[in-house]
Formats: sequence, C-alpha cells, structure tokens
Amino acid sequence: MTNSLSSSTHAVPTAPGRVPLLGHIPSVLRHSPVTTLRSLQAHGDIVALHLGPVTVYVVNSPDLIHRVLVTETDNYGKGRLFTRSTDIIGNGIATSEGEFHHRQRRLMSPAFHRTQLRTYGEVMRGQTEAITGTWQPGAVLPLEKEMNRLTARVAAKTLFTSELGDRAVAEVQKTVPLMTKEAMRRVMVPDVINRLPTPGNRRFFAAIARTRKILNEVMSAYEEQGVDHGDLLSTLLRARDEETGEGMTHAQVHDELITLFIAGTETTSTTLSWLFYEITRHPEVEERLLAELETVLGDRAVTFDDLPKLEYAARFVDETLRLHAPWLSMRRTKVDVELGGVHIPAETELIYSPDAVHHNPRHYPDPERFEPDRWLSAPADRRTFITFGAGKHKCIGDHFARTLILIVLTTIVRKWRLTTVPGYKLREVPDVLLRPKTLPMTVEARAACRTA
Ligand code: HEM
Repeated sequence: MTNSLSSSTHAVPTAPGRVPLLGHIPSVLRHSPVTTLRSLQAHGDIVALHLGPVTVYVVNSPDLIHRVLVTETDNYGKGRLFTRSTDIIGNGIATSEGEFHHRQRRLMSPAFHRTQLRTYGEVMRGQTEAITGTWQPGAVLPLEKEMNRLTARVAAKTLFTSELGDRAVAEVQKTVPLMTKEAMRRVMVPDVINRLPTPGNRRFFAAIARTRKILNEVMSAYEEQGVDHGDLLSTLLRARDEETGEGMTHAQVHDELITLFIAGTETTSTTLSWLFYEITRHPEVEERLLAELETVLGDRAVTFDDLPKLEYAARFVDETLRLHAPWLSMRRTKVDVELGGVHIPAETELIYSPDAVHHNPRHYPDPERFEPDRWLSAPADRRTFITFGAGKHKCIGDHFARTLILIVLTTIVRKWRLTTVPGYKLREVPDVLLRPKTLPMTVEARAACRTA
C-alpha cells in the first residue's frame, strides 16, 4: 500500500497511544481493535492511526461516512478488506466495483424482491421448525452453533430448492464455515503467506475447487431441465440485463452464490445469537414480545405477511442490530480527496466502524442501554444507523436478513424458553460482527414453563 502524508494532514488528530516505529499497533493489541475504534469516536471526525509504517484514517462522523459511501462514492474503492477476499468470493458483487458491480447488482436485485422473500419465508420457518424439532426440553445447547446450522441451511435451501441441489447443499455447508473463517484471517496476513503450499492453504484451495465443480454441475443440470425452481439459483441463471439482454456466465453465478453464502450466513446467525442473549437479560422484552405474538398470531404459525404487524418485535430486532453491528469496514481513496477539511492522498485506506458509531452517546443517548422503544421514533439523523452500510454497496440482503431474523425469532420464542447456563460469562470475538465465543443455553418447552 502506498501512503504519504500531504502538507495539510497536520489537521488530522493522531489517535492516542502512538509509540516510535510500531505506531499504534501495541495500543490496538492491548485494547482490542473494537475498543480502540469505539474510543476513537471521541477524538474527532477523522483520526489518523499509524499501524507500523502504514497510516490509515478512521472516519468517525456519520456525515463523513455518508459522503464516502453515498454522495462522493466515485472517489472511493472498496479497500483491502474486500480485495483480499477475491480468492474466496471471486469477482462477485461484494468485491467488484464500477459498471460491472452496477450490472451484477441489477441482475441480482429480483432475487431479493418481496415476492421472492414471501417464498423464502416459508423455507425459513420450515427449517427453523426442523432444527428446533430435534431439541430436547432441558438440554443445554451451544446456541451459537445451532443458529449457524440454521442460517446455513436456510441459505442452502433458498439457493437451491430442487433436489438437484442436494449435493451442493451438503458441500457448501461443509466448506462455507471454512471459507468464512479464512476470509478474515487472509485479510490480516501478507498475501505471500496466503499462497504458500502449506497444508492449510492446500486444504483451503482444494475446498474451493471442489465447491466450484459441484456448483457448475448443478447449474448445468438446472439449465438442462429448463424449469424455474423459484429459488435463488433459478433467479440468477434466468436474470437478463434489461439494456443488453445478456445474462451471467456460470463463473459469475458461481461467485455470486458463494458471496451470498459468506455474506448471509454468519452475519444472520450472530445476530440471532445476540437476540436470544438479549432476551435472557431483559425479561420485560420477552413478555412484551410474547404478548404481541399472542395478539397478532394467536395460535397460528407466522407468515411473511404478518411481519409488518409485529411492531415491537421489529423494534427489538433494530435495537439488537444497533448494538451488535459490524465493527469494521473499509474503503480506499482512488484519487486525492478532501474529506472534512482534510487532504487525503490517493490509495489511502479508510476505516469506519458501524459498531463504534452506534455506541457513541452523541448519536444514541445512553448507548449501552438495550432499549427497543428508542425506535418508536426514527433517529434524528438516519445516517447514524449503518448496520447494513449505505449507498451503492448497501447490503443487498438486508430485507432477507430482517425476514429471516423475525421468522426465526417468533417461531422459536413462542415454543421455547432459552436461558443462559448458571455462571455463564460472555466472551466476545471479532469476526464480521463481534460475536459471543460460546453461548450455551438451556432450552425449555414454553408450554411446560407456563404450567410449571
Ligand atoms: C444481520 C445480517 C447482515 C448484516 C449485518 C450485513 C451487513 C452488510 C454490510 C455492512 C454491507 C456493506 C459492506 C460495505 O459497503 O462495505 C453488506 C453488503 C452485502 N451483504 Fe450483507 N449483511 C447481513 C446479511 C446479509 C444477507 C442475509 C445477505 C444475502 C442473502 C447479504 C449479502 C450481502 C451482499 C451480497 C453484500 C455486497 C453488496 C454490494 O457490494 O453491492 N447480507 N452487508
């Protein structure tokens, strides 16, 4: 990465804790990257962080983040976090830019249309019932793993509903956790290490090759059959550009499938783990949730069309998404820019943290307090809520994620009461979102709780 300070960058405050040569590295390691980014919110709209010889700019203010992501977006590329992910997700919408990204986004949007979400809603409820159907009352379950199993199955079953996809479902369920884990690690280490023929790297590349082969076979089988299965894969294979009439090649569909798996599985499962964790800490939330479900649904199972009526549940989800948002995202300047009165040279990495913005008391009073009712009115400045990003790269799966989270939450909470085991101590680890390292929970059948 090239990086040099221009004459006007003296205006940028430097983060505290800098030491000679290593800069802020010891401080970041001591306090953790997440804590560092939260603390930097108090140090200005933009703060310089020196990581050894490299200077990155941490953009703190929602206004400036909005300029980077939305109004002046053409000046910024996606940055290291994404360019390093191309080994895994190839040239999918999450890693691409410019006209190609725009085209892919147009082709993929129909797969996330309301009518599609209604169909996926049934899959989401069915898979939730299937997984919780194996739960034994009184059992202690690793909830974080259960939620991961669930969201991986939902992703697989919404991508390929036909039995032609069964082999692919089994394969991606095996390889996607490996890929997700590798994605963060590979960003952190020099590329040359990622290419060494170590057993780990060989396993990783073999898994990618195997998945590619199976997905190619499934795509060919779908095309030979010529039937619209109403799933994501059919939608992607049939998508045609309105302007040119062109569709996607198999290689492109492959990259988008893997992108959707990686982007959509762990993010949603982590949010679900947090939801159930927050319920155990806030019995009043659980009561209001159950009361709303009783009023809106009675004994009926939840459907996609019920979701707009579940207003308290939606506020509960919003508050969870605020408190547990992605902690790190990046962009890179393509040209020299002026941002917040600061000159930043081309090819400079910028960091912003939705998590840090959401924990800033200037934007959310008493930010650590879990309070779904703060969403009774929209925040004064909507740019302060960036769990799903903003602008042309905003999460394409945001409605999918909200639908999934609400359906899983309502389906589980009515039948099961989940409590953390005695003595449980939360330890958080930073993946895309900060997530509970483990979340052992006791599951009790709700009916049994009521009669007890
Ligand atoms: C709680 C769950 C989720 C969170 C917090 C989340 C968060 C985000 C964020 C912050 C971005 C923007 C990244 C950036 O601009 O740098 C993003 C992009 C993306 N997300 Fe999500 N996401 C979630 C669920 C999903 C789901 C369920 C899917 C797919 C089914 C998905 C697919 C994508 C894709 C493909 C992109 C790239 C979009 C583009 O660059 O045009 N995400 N997500």
